[in-house]
Amino acid sequence: MCFLSLARALQLCMTPALALGGPRRLHAVFQAAELPETHRMLRQTCRDFAERELAPAAAQLDKEHRFPAAQVKKMGGLGLLAMDVPEQYNGAGLDCLAYSIAMEEISRGCASTGVIMSVNNSLYLGPILKFGSEEQKQKWIAPFTSGDKIGCFALSEPGNGSDAGAASTVARLDGDEWVLNGTKAWITNAWDASATVVFATTDKSLKHKGISAFLVPMPTAGLSLGKKEDKLGIRASSTANLIFEDCRIPKGNLLGQPGMGFKIAMQALDAGRIGIASQALGIAQAALDCAVDYAEKRMAFGSPITKLQAVQFKLADMAVALEGARLLTWRAAMLKDNGKPFTKEAAMAKLAASEAATAISHQAIQILGGMGYVTEMPAERHYRDARITEIYEGTSEIQRLVIAGQLLKAYRS
Ligand code: CAA
Repeated sequence: MCFLSLARALQLCMTPALALGGPRRLHAVFQAAELPETHRMLRQTCRDFAERELAPAAAQLDKEHRFPAAQVKKMGGLGLLAMDVPEQYNGAGLDCLAYSIAMEEISRGCASTGVIMSVNNSLYLGPILKFGSEEQKQKWIAPFTSGDKIGCFALSEPGNGSDAGAASTVARLDGDEWVLNGTKAWITNAWDASATVVFATTDKSLKHKGISAFLVPMPTAGLSLGKKEDKLGIRASSTANLIFEDCRIPKGNLLGQPGMGFKIAMQALDAGRIGIASQALGIAQAALDCAVDYAEKRMAFGSPITKLQAVQFKLADMAVALEGARLLTWRAAMLKDNGKPFTKEAAMAKLAASEAATAISHQAIQILGGMGYVTEMPAERHYRDARITEIYEGTSEIQRLVIAGQLLKAYRS
């Protein structure tokens, strides 16, 4: 089924309880203890696509550090690159729960493709959709929905990652242009992107309140790319520095109001963390699938090793960690869909899912033994891919800070 028709079906077929939104919607999903029919159809569509187009290519793309151009183009055609963008801007017009489900399935097939999809949806298109003027939406969203162009998000710098408010990249107004100077680091999609949302300070004395967000086309004069980072995992997605040297952009490329940049970044990251949590679920599910499949066939002491309690206990712990993280992720997504605060829940989801992915892929290798350690099997790739989910879009330590901060705020109020 064409994904965009599925999107329309999904909007039309929501049960009355779901369409009502609010707590009743959360209640309906958890009471049913399963997804609505329409979301299950979406999951099957994405699963079929991932099994057919992504999983068979993932090892080679990883080995060659190659951007999955053909697959990304097909994903654009399916609506996967602009999932919650309204149809008027050429998006699929779906909800965040649908995005989470799709992200998990895509990442289960290929985690690199998952992060390419997540950054375009949450970190590039998300802030433009929320804070852009109508003119900016027309110009910077529609061309980035089809897979012909993708975007990136430039917040971190060589000197500050977790301390995002300490940005030292500078933007100075000169007549009708902004002039950008500074270096942004660890930028996912950098080598393959056609535009970036970039954060720069217009007044350092104001600290985070002096940061603004800008839209910059790529390539453009005064913006160069650093070397492609040689990474442990997610190797088919590019990561590099963006170097701004007297890079001039029109005054109208300011996104939102001056000084709003930090809040724009934080809100984009809240949504982004649901995307990365879902990517981690996909990696974890792939690792568990691989472990079960292998253990059912591997003979030891006269029977398949799934007869051994030592293996069964591992599988049980892996399944519990995965299911728990999935429920937290869906809950964060549904809160977002219902217009409720979800900062804490997104941080919880990312923390739980990324740590589950690391633990599950670790145990998958243990179950496979030597076969888990060689590239003949995908377990070693899942293990390498999982690790970054505990680092980007806020480390596990930052997620704990966010959760504790929100918890204490609620307790004290
Ligand atoms: N939504 C809206 N506003 C928020 C917010 C949120 N989630 N979080 C904080 N704010 C607001 C606060 O309300 C406060 O507003 P006022 O000034 O009006 O009072 C302001 O922002 C400052 O808040 P804090 O004092 O809490 O800020 P802080 O400096 O202590 O930092 C932090 C908070 C949570 C540590 C934050 O800096 C952070 O999230 N750091 C991690 C950054 C990160 O995730 N980087 C990854 C970059 S992207 C990437 O990984 C690469 C890629 O390409 C995938």
